[in-house]
Amino acid sequence: MEKTRIAVFVSGGGTNLQALIDAQISGLLSHGQIVLVISSSPEAFALQRAYKNDIPCEVVSKKEYTSQESFEERILQSLDENAIDLIVLAGFMSILSESFTSRFPKRIINVHPSLIPSFCGKGYYGLRVHQAVLAAGVKITGATVHFVNEIPDGGEIIMQKAVAVRGSDTPEKLQKRVMKQAEWQILPRSVEMVCKEMVRSRTKK
Ligand code: GRF
Repeated sequence: MEKTRIAVFVSGGGTNLQALIDAQISGLLSHGQIVLVISSSPEAFALQRAYKNDIPCEVVSKKEYTSQESFEERILQSLDENAIDLIVLAGFMSILSESFTSRFPKRIINVHPSLIPSFCGKGYYGLRVHQAVLAAGVKITGATVHFVNEIPDGGEIIMQKAVAVRGSDTPEKLQKRVMKQAEWQILPRSVEMVCKEMVRSRTKK
């Protein structure tokens, strides 16, 4: 079987990347292989996780490019060189333009730390999401894995998981629980589902 070739885009700690690596090791992710990690920052701890697991990495930092176009051209070149089939955004903090995302319909996956369509879209990232959840007083939050299109957090939903909000929560505590109970669970499962479907449709041709 020819596995789906995955590139994971990261910017920070890379715990979601780790969940994908663990899934690959345990066999939960069996129809896809992480063959490239692209980081928007040279300091991202995610890079250490990739090195440790012998996954090739590239740092493509936006501030080194004069335009969005040249930044994305550089990324496209790497994707092309590595024959990437599927992109997974796992805490990638740089915005990708519509001209980029439209090249990969249903080929870019993102994980967002809320139950979309709540607490998502422009300005909802990182701790801000969990701050907004606590300010609204909702009792249930969670995470969503979805395809990426031109609308921020607006693409087709692949999987969601709910997490209870506790009275004693701080944004930090809630963020950790959402990651552990939801993001790290549904991201690998969604990626496997999409990879399996891609393998199936390739073998049909
Ligand atoms: C996660 O909360 C993810 O939902 C969001 O960014 C965070 C990344 O964390 N898009 P990590 O780098 O995977 O640890």
